[in-house]
Amino acid sequence: DLHSSRTGGAETEPDGLIFIGKEEDIQKSQRITAKIDGREIVVFYHEGKFHALDSRCYHEGGPLCRGEIEDIDGQACIVCPWHKFKITLETGEGLYEGINPLEPTPTPKWQSKGVKQRIHKVTIDNGNVYVSPPDLSVSFDSDYFADKYKNGGELVM
Ligand code: FES
Repeated sequence: DLHSSRTGGAETEPDGLIFIGKEEDIQKSQRITAKIDGREIVVFYHEGKFHALDSRCYHEGGPLCRGEIEDIDGQACIVCPWHKFKITLETGEGLYEGINPLEPTPTPKWQSKGVKQRIHKVTIDNGNVYVSPPDLSVSFDSDYFADKYKNGGELVM
């Protein structure tokens, strides 16, 4: 249990992690935006879990921090406020509704386009919420917009 493993030094950040905020504050506000190395991210608290994603949508850079969370096929998704793309909070997968024309009675089903939005690992320690620095040796579609809006690039809401 990380919470009881530390007795003092509440402000000491675990190695390499970036402090985002207090667990109880984010539980209350349900979401918070932050910058890690100039990159805009958003942390959601949803149904007892924290999820961190790039805040600029992989499609055209819409502000996911302003989106609504919807349950799609049992997966919590953020819906981009710009063109309503759906992104799973857990994995950053883009979902789309597709039909298989070869089925006898084709019905739309939710399918994954793969991981499109970069997600960030969240660590809770001693009542504090941290994210890990991004591993930039792997790239995701959302990186383009993360770079574009980096360090206070024009903020379009
Ligand atoms: Fe997010 Fe288009 S910018 S759906």
